[in-house]
Amino acid sequence: MSGDWLFKDLNFELVQGEHVAIQGASGSGKSTLLNIMAGLEVPAYGEVHWSGQPTSAWSAERRRSCRQSEMGFVFQAFHLLPHLSALQNVMVPCLLGGQSGLVCSEAARSLLCDLGMQKRLDAKPTSLSGGEQQRVALARALVHHPKVVFADEPTGNLDTKTAASTLSLLIELCKSRQTSLVVVTHADEAARSMGRTLHLTAEGLI
Ligand SMILES: Nc1ncnc2c1ncn2[C@@H]1O[C@H](COP(=O)(O)OP(=O)(O)OP(=O)(O)O)[C@@H](O)[C@H]1O
Ligand SMILES: [Mg+2]
Repeated sequence: MSGDWLFKDLNFELVQGEHVAIQGASGSGKSTLLNIMAGLEVPAYGEVHWSGQPTSAWSAERRRSCRQSEMGFVFQAFHLLPHLSALQNVMVPCLLGGQSGLVCSEAARSLLCDLGMQKRLDAKPTSLSGGEQQRVALARALVHHPKVVFADEPTGNLDTKTAASTLSLLIELCKSRQTSLVVVTHADEAARSMGRTLHLTAEGLI
C-alpha cells in the first residue's frame, strides 16, 4: 500500500428513490466513487452493500447480472453504439434482460417519445446532435426500470441551456419512476433541485 489515499472514512447510504448530486474538484475521485458504487471498481479498503448485502464475496457474474438488471448508467461522452439506431441503442439493456424484441421495442419507443425523440427513432448516433444523443443515453439508462441510475457528468458535453434541460429531464424521469439517482454534476442549479448535494473531499463526502 503506497499510502496515497484518494479518499478515506467515506460513508454513504443511498435510500431507494433518493436523488443525490455529487460535486468536487477535478481529480477528487468522483468517477472512481461512482464506479465503486456500481461495482465496476473494487475499493482497496472498505465494503459496498447492495440491498443490505455485502458484495465483496460476489462472483464477477453476479456483479454483472446485478448491474445489468438493477442499474442504469449515463456517461458524459454518451457511449452510444454507432452502428445501431437510436431505438436499437435504447433496446439493448432490455434485450440483455431477456425481454422479447417487441416488448423492448415498445418500451424504447415510448421512452424516446417522452423525451421528444419520436422523429429520430431510426437515426444513427452520428447524425444526432449532442443533446439528442444524450437523450438517447438517458432513455437507455432507464428502459429496463433499474433501481438506480448513476450519471457521471451526463451533460458535460452540452451547452449550458441544453445541459440544464437534459438534467431536469433525467431528474423528472427518475422521480416519476421512483428510481434512485446519483449524478456527478457541476451544474449548481440542477444539484439544488435534487434531494441532497454532497461534496467529495479527501476527508470523505460532506
Ligand atoms: N484505485 C485508485 N487508487 C488511487 N488513485 C486512483 C484510483 N483510481 C483513480 N485514481 C486517481 O484518482 C484521481 C481521481 O480520478 P477520478 O477520475 O475519479 O476523478 P474525478 O473527480 O472524476 O475527476 P474529473 O472531475 O476530472 O472527472 C486521478 O488522479 C486518478 O488517477
Ligand atoms: Mg470524473
